[in-house]
Amino acid sequence: MLVAILPGDGIGPEIMAEAVKVLGVLELGLVLETAPVGGAAYEAHGHPLPESTLRLAQAADAILFGAVGDWKYDKLERALRPEQAILGLRKHLGLFANFRPAICYAELTHASSLKPELVAGLDILIIRELTGDIYFGQPRGRRTAPDGAFAGAEEAFDTMRYTRPEIERIAHVAFQAARRRAGGRGGKVTSVDKANVLETFQFWKDVVTEVHRDYPDVALDHMYVDNAAMQLVRAPKRFDVVVTGNMFGDILSDEASMLTGSIGMLPSASLDARNKGLYEPSHGSAPDIAGQGVANPLATILSAAMMLRYTLQQPEAADRIESAVRAVLAAGLRTGDIWSEGTRRVGTREMGDAVVAAITGKTITTS
Ligand code: IPM
Ligand code: MG
Repeated sequence: MLVAILPGDGIGPEIMAEAVKVLGVLELGLVLETAPVGGAAYEAHGHPLPESTLRLAQAADAILFGAVGDWKYDKLERALRPEQAILGLRKHLGLFANFRPAICYAELTHASSLKPELVAGLDILIIRELTGDIYFGQPRGRRTAPDGAFAGAEEAFDTMRYTRPEIERIAHVAFQAARRRAGGRGGKVTSVDKANVLETFQFWKDVVTEVHRDYPDVALDHMYVDNAAMQLVRAPKRFDVVVTGNMFGDILSDEASMLTGSIGMLPSASLDARNKGLYEPSHGSAPDIAGQGVANPLATILSAAMMLRYTLQQPEAADRIESAVRAVLAAGLRTGDIWSEGTRRVGTREMGDAVVAAITGKTITTS
């Protein structure tokens, strides 16, 4: 099995090094091949998603992705900005189903900005459609200044669009995920839209309702996106699976991730129709702390576990990683983002080493 390792920018290389270390000790016979992506690839090859990186991603059985982006590229023309790498990979590889779990680990209940009773035991799954919507509509804007600014332009717009097959396939993914989470039957899907204002999302709502006929055991409700944003902080445990479009999913998944105390803990998967996937932490490249050895590598390590479970069919290895992460948290180790009084603050490498030690059966001691 070939795994493409795309570390990217900012803290990407540091957190990826720890995930690679963890995959290494599992001795699964994986072939890992690294390629530049994002700003790092722009520096090296003049493009955020060079042909060679795209080819590796296409050839690989799965992709482990770090993070891309840095403010210093804000002035580049849009096609050359780091973010285009991840958008390009999603589009070229047909990665339309984005799974963003928000799980509140028992040890981290107090790291949430919400009251502990609101988030204790929280386990929701946001399923975001990833290759349609306003993200891939027609952008229009006349740039007048050489630095890419819109100074002097009269108008700019992007078109919001969804086709029936795009909505149908993500709806199927959501209903099936709800069933799986409920142990084979049942579960609940909340479809988030803005049908009161947008035609695109009235259509979304209608198509999701049609697909639901195939899943009578799964409960379905519909919610406007503004209300969903409110309910997520008012009573997040009312949700099970949330399915929504690309733009609303981008926003709501960041919101949901923070309920858990740290975005530094959350993995994500972007899958194609045959379960090939790109796996990445839900957080970004955090250029403000890059190179300091303080970033939390657990989201990337847990992304590797998700990759083993969903794409590489190695559930036992995935279990071993996830139990190791729980053991490390239980032992009181914390990177700065999840640190609280009475726990032990560790750096990126120390956290990765502790996960490795937990996998190989060594005991972790706190001091
Ligand atoms: C995400 C990110 C990306 C997105 C950016 C980097 C293009 O915010 O994966 O959520 O908007 O999809
Ligand atoms: Mg986002």
